[in-house]
Amino acid sequence: MSIVIAIDGPAASGKGTLARRLAAHYGRPHLDTGLLYRATACALLDEGLPLDDVEAAVAAARSLSLVDFDEKRLRARDMGEAASVVAAMPAVRAALIDMQRSFAARPEGAVLDGRDIGTVICPDATVKIFVTASPETRATRRALELAGRGEEADYAAILEDVKKRDARDSGRSAAPLKPAADAVTLDTTELDIEEAFTAARGIVEKARR
Ligand code: CDP
Repeated sequence: MSIVIAIDGPAASGKGTLARRLAAHYGRPHLDTGLLYRATACALLDEGLPLDDVEAAVAAARSLSLVDFDEKRLRARDMGEAASVVAAMPAVRAALIDMQRSFAARPEGAVLDGRDIGTVICPDATVKIFVTASPETRATRRALELAGRGEEADYAAILEDVKKRDARDSGRSAAPLKPAADAVTLDTTELDIEEAFTAARGIVEKARR
């Protein structure tokens, strides 16, 4: 049976971890759509082009291939910031829609996480979860994640990053970050990974009934 799970939320809210856990639990493929924007930005930086070169960004977005992502590089701190710059361009977003929708249209369904999955990419998803947490909690989680990968992780700088990215992602006119009208909000500020996963599963089960 097809089941499409749409997970959205701000930076470092834990949506990626939840999406991976739900995908494994339900045996559905997972697409981290943030990687598409990160890879688009990365292609521009690699070519020495400015991030506001719309034409080059669209060309990079169109030629992305899901299989050759260097995740370590793409998940680096500076790439999240660069991704949110290219993600604000309507033409870049448009260039990435088909790839995301065809992923979601697999016969068995899929789990997608991002900023506009429930609002734009999969408006008819089986279930939509909007994952949030306080900026301070998110900054702490991101600092731990970066430190775990051996990247320098200054809490104050990361908190600034998180707030700046929230403002850019929520304030843009193209597919701004916001919960879909029919999304269930899951605030994970006080929840650990297991508790958040249990809560998310409960939301999915309720939607399937
Ligand atoms: O992991 P984190 O939440 O920090 O970032 P991400 O999900 O990889 O997304 C990086 C940036 O890509 C975000 O700040 C958004 O600007 C953009 N993005 C988006 O606009 N739409 C999506 N569906 C996914 C990411």
